[in-house]
Amino acid sequence: MSESDKEKQKKYYPEPELAKNARVKSMDDYNNIWKQSIDNPDKFWDKEAKMVDWFKPYSKVWQSPKGDGDDFVGKWFVDGKLNVCYNCLDRWVEKGYGDQKSLIWMGEDDTLKEYTFASLKDKVCKAANALKELGVKKGDRVCIWLPMVDDLAISMLACARIGAIHSIVFGGFSAESVKDRIDDSDCKILITADEVMRAGRARPMKDNLKGIIETCPSIEKVAVVKVTNGDVYEYEKDVNYTALIEKQSTECPCEEMDAEDPLFILYTSGTTGKPKGVVHTQGGYLVYCMSTNLYVWDYSCLVDLKGGKPSERDVWYCTADIGWITGHSQIVYGPLALGAISVMYEGVPTWPHKGRFWEIVQKLKVTHFYTAPTAIRALMKYGEKEVNKWDISSLKMLGTVGEVCNWPEWIWYWKVIGKGSTGEKPVGKPIVDSYWQTETGSYMMVNFGAITPMKPGSCTFPFFGINPKLLDEDGNEVKNTNTQAYFAYDMPWPGLMRTVWGNHERFVSTYLSKFPGHYYTGDYAQIDDEGYYFILGRADDVIKVSGHRLGSAEVESAINSHPKVAESAVCPYPHSIKGSTIFAFVTLMEGVDPSEDLKKEIQNHTRSVAGPTVKPEVIMFADALPKTRSGKIMRRILKAIATQSEIGNTMTLANPDVVQHLVEERAKLGKIEF
Ligand code: WTA
Repeated sequence: MSESDKEKQKKYYPEPELAKNARVKSMDDYNNIWKQSIDNPDKFWDKEAKMVDWFKPYSKVWQSPKGDGDDFVGKWFVDGKLNVCYNCLDRWVEKGYGDQKSLIWMGEDDTLKEYTFASLKDKVCKAANALKELGVKKGDRVCIWLPMVDDLAISMLACARIGAIHSIVFGGFSAESVKDRIDDSDCKILITADEVMRAGRARPMKDNLKGIIETCPSIEKVAVVKVTNGDVYEYEKDVNYTALIEKQSTECPCEEMDAEDPLFILYTSGTTGKPKGVVHTQGGYLVYCMSTNLYVWDYSCLVDLKGGKPSERDVWYCTADIGWITGHSQIVYGPLALGAISVMYEGVPTWPHKGRFWEIVQKLKVTHFYTAPTAIRALMKYGEKEVNKWDISSLKMLGTVGEVCNWPEWIWYWKVIGKGSTGEKPVGKPIVDSYWQTETGSYMMVNFGAITPMKPGSCTFPFFGINPKLLDEDGNEVKNTNTQAYFAYDMPWPGLMRTVWGNHERFVSTYLSKFPGHYYTGDYAQIDDEGYYFILGRADDVIKVSGHRLGSAEVESAINSHPKVAESAVCPYPHSIKGSTIFAFVTLMEGVDPSEDLKKEIQNHTRSVAGPTVKPEVIMFADALPKTRSGKIMRRILKAIATQSEIGNTMTLANPDVVQHLVEERAKLGKIEF
């Protein structure tokens, strides 16, 4: 074994002081609590649910599923009544913490808005009253398409306050994607912005909706947040949301919600068809977000000050966009309900300079920093000097999410950001590798920062109440170590999604049918001989670009909408920063000549239809695509062709002869490296 292979396989240990005051103090404690949580989940979750202030207590922790729309996950905190916004804000004010910091928002231009629990509550009440004035009622759907401005967090809390269901669409998605999502869940209101600030420039946001929003029949009003006050296209249903909020009162009662009422819908990519509206609930989701954040990160917060003063709480900074589940659970709901200080930043990590994250850490004395491997890879490229300009000594714990954190970025993060040691028994600031999904609400597999010995690239062990299973194609448990298997869970937990909005059938068929009695993640995983879990990537056609989840079907439908394209198929292709990028095989219409210009045209078209983050970076023209006899495109083969690797069995193809031709065409493109 080479020296570097040894380094990779070593265990890395959290600084021992962290365990002393931790909520879970040792791996023995973790193992005991985990076992109890699996043997008696009701008891465990009952204890956790005490962290929530209920308007009316639940009569039962868990009611087992009865079928007919109540599948696998059952009902959690039955009959319990609560309000999520009340738990994030009001209760802290009522307990005398009104003047303590809650959300700290920082703009690209360094504007700092330090909300206290009281000032955030006032703003949220005003925003909620404004929504009511626009006719929003309990159960109505509100689509939110905003950049990372504070109004984004405020709007979601305002919805939660009045019992409206928010459906947030990532700001980097296209207006067409917004329309699809609005139509799917019949949103009544769209909250959007005039423009978005990106790397120092105002860029259009609302202008992109021109001609599109008019075709959304359910939309009654478009509430416009004035970010730049720029001169933008006006739609007849427009309302100046910023002005409307200003004139509202700061009194707005919290709607009493049932634990199982939906809190939000968040669309996520599937393998086929349009994105699925993942539905999360009020009670189960909140309890799960709080419990996971509390034990994994172990930060001091109002739920448990760990002997410190409220004003000296840790400072939590998650760099995700709220348009993704990570932002929902780990910027807004989890931290605020725990009474933590949560940092939200408007911009990108590389503007106005390449050390922007570290500058924020210094400025706001961030103690817990959570980002994505793709961001680490990007920053790594600029070298240590960009880090060393800043004082990041406030940091206690680091973390990653979204994709595997591979060795090069892991060790850079460990050494350069965490200042961790190497050598025989390396010790340093923990890197929390959190594995989870939009569907799961919060962390599933994750190391407890203060105590779990780490292995680079491993998300280590399950969270409490989570029972992972590695299965073969027939659903038998794979007992062998270091063997690739399907990744599933055999018992439900409160934070799991309840359904796909308007299509329960799809929930069942996507997640519950492949392995009856299990929730199936869609990922491959394996375990090593010490029981550490390693995620090996998606077993389906979901592509992760910069940690963002894209469905092959959506990208293909955007490409196919180009008038010169007959058909296309996309697959992931390795990228040194983004993890993967999109490689597209495109068949042109009869009589259309392939050209480099046409490739550019198709790329631009795709971005304009699907959004700026969706770019097929490589396009290869193909006379035909490899298909099965039933007409299904064999993406496995395309992936092998794209990466010039072993093609494997082509027996099931209806047209095996196209493969050789595509291999030759691919060879003509030469080596492609990103
Ligand atoms: C992948 C993000 C390896 C995985 C919160 C999963 C990961 C998908 C990790 C969900 C990790 C997420 N290690 N892979 N720590 N975290 N993934 O819904 O393939 O955007 O199924 O949720 O990301 O992506 P999603």
